[in-house]
Amino acid sequence: MKIALGSDHGGFALKEELKKYLSKLGHEIKDFGTTSDAAVDYPDFAYPVAEAVAQGKFDRGIVVCGSGVGVCITANKVKGIRAVNAFSVEISKQSREHGDCNVLALGGRYLALPEAEKIVAVWLTTPFSGDDRHLRRIRKIEK
Ligand code: RB5
Repeated sequence: MKIALGSDHGGFALKEELKKYLSKLGHEIKDFGTTSDAAVDYPDFAYPVAEAVAQGKFDRGIVVCGSGVGVCITANKVKGIRAVNAFSVEISKQSREHGDCNVLALGGRYLALPEAEKIVAVWLTTPFSGDDRHLRRIRKIEK
């Protein structure tokens, strides 16, 4: 998959680890920054990732801040984006099956790397269920 990645300083360390993990899985990655743990503003990184996904330039986006909250709020401001702040494997799976989420937000200060990798792996491999009721709800969001 083509995956756009972005983070603020609070998510920088986890983003760097996930970049290695995703490359090892064979995904094509573009890193939208940030490039160090110096303090920055998460909308400056989460918004471009979400825009690029909404424009069809990437299959999915993964955005990381300290809590996952700020980047999730930001990504969901872009039309066509359904972002989830997935703090467990179960939420990650359901976000794909029910919500067809196309951006994954993670909290770098709250997730250990093995847990984050599991959340990412499940999120990338779980298909949307395609059930009528979920499609109907997603169409209502789009309207
Ligand atoms: C930055 O300190 C922190 O507020 C940010 O990374 C994020 O957690 C916001 O939701």
